[in-house]
Amino acid sequence: MASVRTTGAFVAAISMSIVLFSYFLCNYRSKRKTPSPLSKNKKPRNGLIHAVGNTPLIRINSLSEATGCEILGKCEFLNPGGSVKDRVAVKIIEEALESGQLVCGGVVTEGSAGSTAISLATVAPAYGCKCHVVIPDDVAIEKSQILEALGATVERVRPVSITHRDHYVNIARRRALEANELASKIRKTEKIDGKFLEQINRCISDGEKKDSIFSSYCSGGFFADQFENLANFRAHYQGTGPEIWEQSGGSLDSFVAAAGTGGTVAGISSFLQEKNPNIKCFLIDPPGSGLFNKVTRGVMYTREEAEGKRLKNPFDTITEGIGINRLTQNFKMAKLDGAYRGTDKEAVEMSRSTHAFFFCLISI
Ligand SMILES: Cc1ncc(COP(=O)(O)O)c(C=O)c1O
Repeated sequence: MASVRTTGAFVAAISMSIVLFSYFLCNYRSKRKTPSPLSKNKKPRNGLIHAVGNTPLIRINSLSEATGCEILGKCEFLNPGGSVKDRVAVKIIEEALESGQLVCGGVVTEGSAGSTAISLATVAPAYGCKCHVVIPDDVAIEKSQILEALGATVERVRPVSITHRDHYVNIARRRALEANELASKIRKTEKIDGKFLEQINRCISDGEKKDSIFSSYCSGGFFADQFENLANFRAHYQGTGPEIWEQSGGSLDSFVAAAGTGGTVAGISSFLQEKNPNIKCFLIDPPGSGLFNKVTRGVMYTREEAEGKRLKNPFDTITEGIGINRLTQNFKMAKLDGAYRGTDKEAVEMSRSTHAFFFCLISI
């Protein structure tokens, strides 16, 4: 709690400095005659959701000069939640609301220890929804604290195999069902005696369902399912891909990205290749992931998974969230010309030499 308060104070202090800084910047700019590049896109974005996407595509000068190719990076870290996953969170929630699978006041559940959970927790309140995240209990406590500071509820569970019913992803799926059951009980009870909804909800959750995590008002649940939900692919096919095409003026030779769920590489590669089939699209895969072999040899396999070699956590790599050993519905949509393997050492060296972390690279 103390650390949450410290985080809150820190965020407040930073926000205050930004407000002050913006004030001085505005005054300063209004007196200047020559237009500054900073004066572009002055219009305020309409709410948090409209601040997602439209990230800059920037030329990486060091790499472009070293290789003689124009190399561009899409700055996904500039999304409000700090990653490309904001786009996915927005699309998943919007599609679920549109289809009626999620209603305003409902809870979006996800099993994620990383960026997707942060993005869902960031954007769900903007749609009047809540966010419940299930994570393994060996994940850094700071991750839970960030999510809680964003208003999400967090459940830390024992780490087990994905085939186990209590794997964190399976628990997240179950929580959405439980929230739906609870909401339908509330609706039924409401029909019977017409009492105030919240009162009945409390009565049901405290009495009949003592172990329920949804003890306050709950109008249903929805499991985000970022790995299999094709809203993830569509977020990139309809958003990130067209942005890259427009920002580069369509003059691209190739595109490269890593994959976790595969949504990004699949959505962008599908869009770019439809626009111009000559654009070559590649995957960069970390140690422990089977995708490199799947793309280059058609077999989902990695040495780290071989008999007798399997570690408790086969993705013992710093590239958390990248690389996978199963074929997801999202990755299946990718249109790839090839794949490369990359090591942690190369990833760190590249991030240091370019002085930035980019999510995907494009060469023109
Ligand atoms: C910051 C970041 N970028 C990229 C990815 C992977 O993208 P995708 O899941 O679309 O393959 C992840 C996965 O968690 C991530 O956290």
